[in-house]
Amino acid sequence: MDTIAFFSSKRYDQESFQRANQAHGLQFEFFENRLRPQNAQIASQYEIVCAFVNDELDRETLTTLAAGKTRLIALRCAGFNNVDLKAAARLGIRVVRVPAYSPYSVAEHVLALLFTLNRKTHRAYNRVREGNFSIEGLQGFDIHGKSVGIIGTGKIGAIVASIFKGLGCTVFAHDVYPNPECESIGIQYVDLDTLFQSSDIISLHCPLTKETHHIIGREALLSMKRGVTIINTSRGALIDTYAAIQGLKSGKIGQLGLDVYEEEDELFFEDLSSHIIQDDVFMRLLTFPNVLVTGHQAFFTHEALSDIARTTLKNIVDYRQGHELINEVKA
Ligand code: NAI
Repeated sequence: MDTIAFFSSKRYDQESFQRANQAHGLQFEFFENRLRPQNAQIASQYEIVCAFVNDELDRETLTTLAAGKTRLIALRCAGFNNVDLKAAARLGIRVVRVPAYSPYSVAEHVLALLFTLNRKTHRAYNRVREGNFSIEGLQGFDIHGKSVGIIGTGKIGAIVASIFKGLGCTVFAHDVYPNPECESIGIQYVDLDTLFQSSDIISLHCPLTKETHHIIGREALLSMKRGVTIINTSRGALIDTYAAIQGLKSGKIGQLGLDVYEEEDELFFEDLSSHIIQDDVFMRLLTFPNVLVTGHQAFFTHEALSDIARTTLKNIVDYRQGHELINEVKA
């Protein structure tokens, strides 16, 4: 049986996949490197390649893969914006993904970012450890009673919306396809501009597409309330980082919580603590006391990792057995 090649794989991937593999007995080869045009030749020796969010599955990589043995890309993530689906189809490579895994993992991370930023627990933690018990500068606001705007009310956005509802917020939403579940709990769908104008807190849960690229940019920020809190756990390029920095400098953005960043592929998932980081825009973001960045960890719970491994292996087994690929993504 052919071995499956994993790229961008970490110890936690190996553990969760080996656990899930007890039901299948497949063979794995784990590579820590990100898959990119430069190492696609190695990947092309495998019929099935398992990739993650920042692997570069562009036309160049896919052409090399197709010239070799690769016929299936099994994404172990929900988003597929890093795959040139048209090129894959043309080259005869099929692409599967994990459309749903514990959506609570990401939804709850939104709360982690928001509550940390708002009540400044990250700063309080450091102060108290140093014997500094001053609470000067740690003031937050009640989340209860605030207006929250959710962009994208699919699996994750709908849970986020219901959590905010439970916290006593007024929740507005915007989606190209309103979700009846959200409507049934009193969430009001509005156009994007109304959402921007009305929300104290905005959380992004739509995919990255041509339409949503820089959905939060200079223009959008102009419509927003002064001091707005923005949380992005979806994809980095939903936010124009330059515009966000201007918004932070002017005070338009009161708090910014990011689990994703538009140029994250050069940074995230690696220990760069002994390196000189070259991305000045990212480093500028880190200078703001009201910005909190986590390195794409919103999905990182036990439940989500188990779901991801189980579904990915099911996708692979279905492909091997010639069954219908229910999680196939097409251009
Ligand atoms: P989903 O597909 O269930 O929901 C996405 C929603 O966005 C859908 O309701 C869709 O109609 C809506 N949408 C599409 N285009 C839109 C537009 N132009 N304006 C407004 N809404 C639009 O996806 P799910 O599972 O809720 O995931 C959402 C996003 O979260 C994913 O696309 C992915 O980028 C991100 N994600 C991030 C993770 C992390 O660890 N930070 C982990 C998993 C997902």
